[in-house]
Amino acid sequence: MAQNPLVPPSNGSADLPEDLEQAILELKAQRDAVLLAHYYQESEVQDLADFVGDSLALAQAAKRVDHQVIVFCGVHFMAETAKILNPERTVVIPDANAGCSLADGCPPDAFGEFIQGHPGAAVLSYINTSAEVKAQSDLICTSSNAAQMAAVFEGRPLIFAPDRHLARWVAKQADRPDLIIWQGTCVVHEQFSAKRLVQLRFRHPDAEVLAHPECDEAVLDQADFVASTTGIIQRAVESPAKTLIIATEDGVFHQIQQRAPDKQLIQAPGMDESCACNQCPYMRLNTLEKLYLCLRDLKPEVTVPEEVRVRALHPIERMLELSG
Ligand code: 13P
Ligand code: SF4
Repeated sequence: MAQNPLVPPSNGSADLPEDLEQAILELKAQRDAVLLAHYYQESEVQDLADFVGDSLALAQAAKRVDHQVIVFCGVHFMAETAKILNPERTVVIPDANAGCSLADGCPPDAFGEFIQGHPGAAVLSYINTSAEVKAQSDLICTSSNAAQMAAVFEGRPLIFAPDRHLARWVAKQADRPDLIIWQGTCVVHEQFSAKRLVQLRFRHPDAEVLAHPECDEAVLDQADFVASTTGIIQRAVESPAKTLIIATEDGVFHQIQQRAPDKQLIQAPGMDESCACNQCPYMRLNTLEKLYLCLRDLKPEVTVPEEVRVRALHPIERMLELSG
């Protein structure tokens, strides 16, 4: 249908100021808001943030915040974690549809039944889960501390959810071959191709391969270094290698390029050559335009029912205490 040129689109460009960055900074001050962003956000969003980090650092930052408003530029479970940790703040996210294939693939009811199927097992859940799943867990972990958190349950049957690739990595690192694993995956990390990575390494024999533990085992087997996003960025900057092949979402490239501009960064190849599959489709829903609107209207707001929040808080706090 042709658009009437006299009627501006409701959330469209006619509503937006010309200098979006400046308008966002002004609104941020007016709202007493702090902007937290994950490394997988587009570079313009990262550059406007007060704090950019991995999921552990963002949870730690969210707990410390004393501003009225937290604008969470990341995915829903991250904003929800901020609300659980700091319930007095108004938490908003630029796009409420910014989900995560891991969190979405582990529905709370089905997970409850899974737990019941393994009586006596402790439950270690990745932070990439809904508040309702966290509320059913004994401890939460992130990609940077998962093996350390698994070690807490030595000698006890242990459920790990929801990422099966991270679980396999943890099982190896923590010597827990008996882990009871929920079979979820990340749509971004599971699309890297081990076969094409071999071919790429052949063309760059001096390159170092850095990978996130959500990647498939065959990809991790070829990695020189496996770590969370923060770990990958640090290693890329400090590594003596001049060329780095990176198997994670390509938002991390922005931070590495800023800190080590002379390094050659190569994206690990995906299975489908024709798509930009190493960009998280959920993370990338947050745009500068939506960030502006979300600060202006203070919505979409992220809320958690108090009864769920209180139960989810305990395993998150426990992780933060154990992480120092
Ligand atoms: P990090 O814990 O490394 O930030 O990972 C978050 C994530 O969603 C990875 O896909
Ligand atoms: Fe979830 Fe994967 Fe996106 Fe991370 S990259 S938010 S795990 S879908």
